[in-house]
Amino acid sequence: MQDVLDFLNANRDQAVEQLAQLLRIPSVSADSAFLPHMTAAAEFVHNALCEAGLDAEIIPTAGHSIVYGEWTKAEGEPTALIYGHYDVQPPDPLDLWTTPAFEPDVRDGCIWARGATDDKGQLWTHVLSVAAWLKAHGSLPVNVKFVIEGEEEVGSNNLDHFLESNKEKLKCDVAVVSDTSQYAPGMPAITYGLRGILACEVTLTGPNRDLHSGVFGGSVINPVNALCGLIGKLHDESGRIQVPGFYDDVKPLTDGERAEFASLPHDEAAYLADLGMSSVWGEHGFTTLERRWARPTCDVNGIFGGYTGEGPKTIVPSKATAKITCRLVPDQDPHALTEALRKFFEQNLPPGISMKFTTAHGGKPSIADLESPYMAAAKSAIEKGFGTAPVMIREGGSIPVVASFDQILGVDTLLLGWGQNSDNLHSPNEHFSIEDFHKGALASACLWSELAAG
Ligand code: BES
Ligand code: ZN
Repeated sequence: MQDVLDFLNANRDQAVEQLAQLLRIPSVSADSAFLPHMTAAAEFVHNALCEAGLDAEIIPTAGHSIVYGEWTKAEGEPTALIYGHYDVQPPDPLDLWTTPAFEPDVRDGCIWARGATDDKGQLWTHVLSVAAWLKAHGSLPVNVKFVIEGEEEVGSNNLDHFLESNKEKLKCDVAVVSDTSQYAPGMPAITYGLRGILACEVTLTGPNRDLHSGVFGGSVINPVNALCGLIGKLHDESGRIQVPGFYDDVKPLTDGERAEFASLPHDEAAYLADLGMSSVWGEHGFTTLERRWARPTCDVNGIFGGYTGEGPKTIVPSKATAKITCRLVPDQDPHALTEALRKFFEQNLPPGISMKFTTAHGGKPSIADLESPYMAAAKSAIEKGFGTAPVMIREGGSIPVVASFDQILGVDTLLLGWGQNSDNLHSPNEHFSIEDFHKGALASACLWSELAAG
């Protein structure tokens, strides 16, 4: 396989250039104004898979299309299903970007653009490694199937249906996803657990129109005040979520796992300095890593209502809305907890207020089997690609398809993240280290031979 690694080393600059072309396409799945760019991104990925030597197609869904590609000529060898997403988060706030979000810029050893690390750059390492095997070697040591979707950042609402209705086509032994992070620079990791998620929106209505706050104020309830009151009730003083039943299905951390988390280097002062904060916050009795990786949360993502323009305006607003997400841990169920949250709001609703509660999406948490032979293959591939053995971590983000791969296709997922937590994913100035990009492609190339050898 040295020929494959040589090929990747020789084509480093072309790989960055190809990634930059993909990053130039503003494939924002959340905003319908970007729809033509979603199509363009799917076509770009499709072309690249075809050029690499795969049989590929663009498969429409009720939402954004899925790009599928396969090479299945390694008879008797395992099949890896590679998943990634070509959609990206909205680039806002635009004025905080040093260079524009969709004009990729290479500086300080990184490529800067929305989607650089999440997930275009990471996903591209697998496209590059498969292309390198086929171009430099003529064949792959395992079978590969790519599923690249365009709705991950909006909850993958059409993906389960695709998996359900294509079980035979997607038959595989293991799934591979690079959409997470290393533990720290120079510390590659395998992520064996992710949090799940539920997302909902609550709108409270008080008076049927905005009212003069002098004429009516004090005599009728203010929905913005009421919403803040409800949100204030979500946590107690010790950071515990107050929704009845919220913790019922939470699997407690074992002493062994807590000890393993604690053995990872963590500098709380540096963590705070990076975030510009003076203290951490969270559920009492847990460390920062435990809170981020293995405890559930309830966060308001945005709140609006009443007058938010310049200068004062004296009103009792008619409406107020909050967008809320909860991160969930094994064995919490997003559907059950959405209902619990709805009930909590209903039961705490003050008189005079009516509520509209809508759900946006949900995804289950996941934990992988640490002992599988695929895990061993991934460890050794990372060691070869990065020159360092990976640490085993959990992470707090969510990739809903991981639980679906388990439940619908019956396979475990290898979460091999090449990113860094400092890559500004979902934030302004997202970037991806070119070194990590290259090492990720090398590790990916090694993974295919390790999976075959295992
Ligand atoms: N790549 C992230 C998930 C991630 C990031 C996992 C860092 C672990 C570490 C992914 O693209 C993402 O942001 N997912 C969403 C899912 C949601 C919209 C259903 C998330 O976690 O908010
Ligand atoms: Zn992602």
